[in-house]
Amino acid sequence: MTHDAEHSQIDFSDKERGYAELAAQLTGLLQGERDLIANLANTAALIYHNLPNLNWAGFYLWHPTSQQLVLGPFQGKTACVRIELGKGVCGTAAATRQTQLVTDVHAFPGHIACDSASNSEIVIPLLHTTPTTKQELLGVLDLDSPLIARFDERDKAGLEALCAILLRSVH
Ligand code: SME
Repeated sequence: MTHDAEHSQIDFSDKERGYAELAAQLTGLLQGERDLIANLANTAALIYHNLPNLNWAGFYLWHPTSQQLVLGPFQGKTACVRIELGKGVCGTAAATRQTQLVTDVHAFPGHIACDSASNSEIVIPLLHTTPTTKQELLGVLDLDSPLIARFDERDKAGLEALCAILLRSVH
């Protein structure tokens, strides 16, 4: 896939079709590359430049030694670096290992405000299944939007599919 892929305009008026196209582009973008940082960085860029109405898209990675999420590759304004397990939307997704779909971040107890423009958020845990450890937490994908209720169940399904493609590329 050429570098131009990240600048393509995907039509998200039909979300299912938009995510199917985004999944195809991500598969091509990551093909033949297993470097974690490179693939996280390109995934964040592809999402940020194609999904409408985002002000932040990126990753927090799980650091087992410090037992914290630490900022990884992202697009958007500078963000807080370390998040404790169970804190904020990201820490809740990591602790529960469940996608957090937050229609209004101001109503989420303990939400961590990195960018005051953010009003809704979705965080997907990156879970890698290994033969020995069952489910290993690699980190989380975090998307923020200036719109209230920007994300719905179709976004959740589409983004979880993108995370599965990303996980397959690095394991
Ligand atoms: N709002 C997040 C923190 C990360 S920033 O949005 C980039 C949270 O509550 O976990």
